[in-house]
Amino acid sequence: MVPVLEVEHLKKVFAADNARDLLAVDDVSFAVHGGEKVAIIGESGSGKTTVARMIARLTDVTAGRVLLQGEDITQLTGRKLREQYRKMQLVFQSPVDSFDPRCTLGDGIAEALQNFGWQRREAWQETERLLVLCGLTAEIAARYPHEVSGGQCQRAAIARALAVQPQLLILDEATSALDVTVQADILALLAQLQRELSLAYLFICHDIALVQDFCDRVLVMHAGRIVEEGTPDAVIGNPQQAYTQRLIDSVL
Ligand SMILES: Nc1ncnc2c1ncn2[C@@H]1O[C@H](COP(=O)(O)OP(=O)(O)OP(=O)(O)O)[C@@H](O)[C@H]1O
Ligand SMILES: [Mg+2]
Repeated sequence: MVPVLEVEHLKKVFAADNARDLLAVDDVSFAVHGGEKVAIIGESGSGKTTVARMIARLTDVTAGRVLLQGEDITQLTGRKLREQYRKMQLVFQSPVDSFDPRCTLGDGIAEALQNFGWQRREAWQETERLLVLCGLTAEIAARYPHEVSGGQCQRAAIARALAVQPQLLILDEATSALDVTVQADILALLAQLQRELSLAYLFICHDIALVQDFCDRVLVMHAGRIVEEGTPDAVIGNPQQAYTQRLIDSVL
């Protein structure tokens, strides 16, 4: 089976004005297979978000390739890129910011559906179905982003990400702004969706304890590189790198 996502020798250099250029991502390669839950952990500034942004083409790559189901999307633009976006969706840390404050949550989700060819009436029915699938009531569709809790808004953001029936969700600190019990609820929702829809996840997080039960595989990033990789039990139970050990010690 072709992996859902392959990242090959990805590299990002940010040009600095006066100081040296910053090598934020340095030769990162990994794959995510269908239905697999892969975590990227690492301290602040280790390059996790930059990897996610390059995969989503929000940031240009300096070198390397991103393949979605075997197709190189690194140079795609316009309609061809939009078609590929159906396979992959992003969910960010701040769900409120990911919705337009002037539109209801339902509008935001229905718009995503209509952008992909749904008729308005069907788009609204599907919006309500997606909200319920994500543990909300259909009534939430009429509310504005500031009229729901952070956890509810993140569920709505996940519902919108699911609108295009992606195979891969990239979640960048998607639970970090939520309190611990709500974090657990969202992880339970993600696990349920993974079982029902065979979704794959790239779950970016700096909390190693959080990913322990949830993920199949963990990649540890340090200073732009993947320094360690394995099952959560192997990485947490028997870390090979002093850096990983420090990461574990700092949160457990
Ligand atoms: N647009 C940019 N311009 C210049 N430098 C950047 C830019 N975006 C990120 N960086 C730098 O690249 C490095 C990696 O940043 P990145 O946001 O990927 O880290 P991260 O692992 O996601 O951290 P955190 O856990 O705090 O979210 C950091 O040194 C950061 O300052
Ligand atoms: Mg980040």
